Amino acid sequence: MIYNNFVIDRFDRFGDLKLNREVFGRFSKLIKEKTGIFFDLSKMYFLETRLKKRMKEREIKNFLDYLVLLETDYTDREFKELLNEITVQETSFFRINPHFKTFSTYVMPDLISRKRNSDAGFLSFLSAGCSSGQEAYSIAFSVFESKKPIPPHWDFSVVGVDISTKAIESARAGVYQNSEISRLPERIVARFFEKTEKGFKVKDFVRNKTMFRYANLFKEEDLRVSGQFDVIFCRYVLIYLEENAKKKVIDNLFKILNPGGFLFVAPSESYNVSDRFARVIYGDSVLFQKPF
Ligand SMILES: C[S@@+](CC[C@H](N)C(=O)[O-])C[C@H]1O[C@@H](n2cnc3c(N)ncnc32)[C@H](O)[C@@H]1O
Repeated sequence: MIYNNFVIDRFDRFGDLKLNREVFGRFSKLIKEKTGIFFDLSKMYFLETRLKKRMKEREIKNFLDYLVLLETDYTDREFKELLNEITVQETSFFRINPHFKTFSTYVMPDLISRKRNSDAGFLSFLSAGCSSGQEAYSIAFSVFESKKPIPPHWDFSVVGVDISTKAIESARAGVYQNSEISRLPERIVARFFEKTEKGFKVKDFVRNKTMFRYANLFKEEDLRVSGQFDVIFCRYVLIYLEENAKKKVIDNLFKILNPGGFLFVAPSESYNVSDRFARVIYGDSVLFQKPF
């Protein structure tokens, strides 16, 4: 019986609980179906350690029981806890600096001149897969630093969304350690951060322009509630997704981008962007524009 295979595979020779290929396959399928995130066999050990951490927390003694819990919990509460463990949060301020230069020197002036004659004195930006907020705050800093500032009486907002609730909590707090801001120019630190007991906190006048919330980019309904955007940054997210999921996420982002709006992805991800977008090369950056 298959169930017996699980029993046989359950412990290694040191008595440690081990994930076998079949059960790994079922976890991997579940995660892929819900989020698009893909774990191939090379990630088996990584997934095993993260599953064990959650199982310890929930006092669950074997993988199958935990799998059943995930499969039957319609609230996805435990699944979200697991996502906090298995998503990769690596990020930094002004990651891929040329993107932010292009944003300030090309995208911002373009949007402002296009919208000048309309009533829409509002610019909306999305950091899709925002992790702990550095990307969203870098967008906001760039708007404040832009050589072509937004006209008086105009306003802007930066929405950050992520599938990790822990990441969203950190993003909302907006507090960063010295090691994270030490490479930023002193002027930027002085203008946008205040020193607190817990670390360097993004000043309120910037935080007031930002909003962070949970969303699964794979689910169109999660994104629809965020509104429409002039610019979307979705960088180093697609690399974790399975091929069809990449297409679906790009499709979802296309729908919430305003006509003429821009999409930034990481250079290694640009081949995933569909032909529905026009490819624009500006300076050292390749960006993608939704047709008007
Ligand atoms: C490596 S970080 C990249 C952060 C930031 N975009 C950057 O470039 O620095 C990837 C982020 O994507 C998030 N993520 C992965 N799959 C997601 C999905 N289906 N929906 C929303 N966020 C997702 C992860 O939780 C993680 O915070």
